[in-house]
Amino acid sequence: MKISHRIANINGGGSDGWDVFLKARGMIAEGIAVTELTIGEHDIRTASPILQEMHRSAMAGHTGYAMVPGIDDLRDTVAARVQARTGVPTTRDNVIITPGGQAALFAAHSAACDPGETALYIDPYYATYPGTIRSVSAVPRSVPAHAENAFQPRAKDIAAAAEKGAVSLLVNSPNNPTGVVYNRETLDGIAQVCKAHDLWLISDEVYDSQVWEGEHISPRALPGMAERTLVVGSMSKSHAMTGSRCGWIVGPEEVIAHLVNLATNTTYGVPGYIQDAANFGLKQGAEVEAEVAEPFRRRREKAIDVLASQNTVTLVPAQGAMYLMLNIRATGLSGDDFANALLDAHHIAVMPGESFGQAAAGHVRVAMTIDDERFIAALKTLCAFAAELADK
Ligand SMILES: Cc1ncc(COP(=O)(O)O)c(C=O)c1O
Repeated sequence: MKISHRIANINGGGSDGWDVFLKARGMIAEGIAVTELTIGEHDIRTASPILQEMHRSAMAGHTGYAMVPGIDDLRDTVAARVQARTGVPTTRDNVIITPGGQAALFAAHSAACDPGETALYIDPYYATYPGTIRSVSAVPRSVPAHAENAFQPRAKDIAAAAEKGAVSLLVNSPNNPTGVVYNRETLDGIAQVCKAHDLWLISDEVYDSQVWEGEHISPRALPGMAERTLVVGSMSKSHAMTGSRCGWIVGPEEVIAHLVNLATNTTYGVPGYIQDAANFGLKQGAEVEAEVAEPFRRRREKAIDVLASQNTVTLVPAQGAMYLMLNIRATGLSGDDFANALLDAHHIAVMPGESFGQAAAGHVRVAMTIDDERFIAALKTLCAFAAELADK
């Protein structure tokens, strides 16, 4: 039977960038101890009070179909969080609850793009971006953010890509994989290009609780942007609720109404007991979010000390999110070759920069998602290995 081109082509025919990760998992399955610094998942689990609320809600009977746009309480809480952080008036009618940020990215592109239209995204990028765009039958076009510009995308590069015709731009700050937080100049430039070229801006802000340096600015708050911005948020990273699959889109009321129709015909919403738990978690306030983020803040500081004591590996400014992007070009290897060699020689798994696009070639991404001691030991080994290669 024929399978639709759309589904068969989601990965675009190339590698999906997970080769090193899968090789590491294969080694683990064979009983080899591998230090995994690959995926963006906390080394803590969802906090007990949130789980207790999930249990309470389920026992109270919230196990039936929930309201498709999301339960009113949670939509109100998300709206209040966004309004408090951005100053942009936001009500529940600006919010739809989705099964995680990933479903929100799919829904946002469904709203912005018709089949065959071009959707822009910034390279380096979170691994699913091009596939998400292809999933809605749109055509992904990447815009490089250059290592030389500390991975802050430049307005002129985005404008050049938009001039060839595009309907949307997807940005992500704090950024996965680079750990960069977009500064005001970058975001003003992005806003200007979106307005000049009539682009939807899809702003993936799932790491907004993990900012170590600078300030998280939501582009929806910039002048004239609220009507063309769809903000993607999630409980995954802020509350260590990756498995609960609860996220949202914040955007203009009219778009949210259409997205409710999409949800009615696809996901049919998010379980009520998950939403009650998310609502409870969000209501605990920023302190709880800071607690969840704390291990990454701490490990980042320790990592900066380790990296300062050598001169082979250089760190891309690590301003936010749970990753470090390391430039290993001094070794003469590609990110792919370095990651494979490190895995073979020292059983340490990191993600090649090339898994996140060509702009991150010659880099590796290190997830700060294991305990401090093992993390620092692995980082020291990585640096020593890079120095050996560079001396050869
Ligand atoms: C940049 C970015 N966006 C979105 C997601 C999706 O997160 P979730 O679907 O768990 O909310 C992730 C997950 O790693 C991510 O790194």
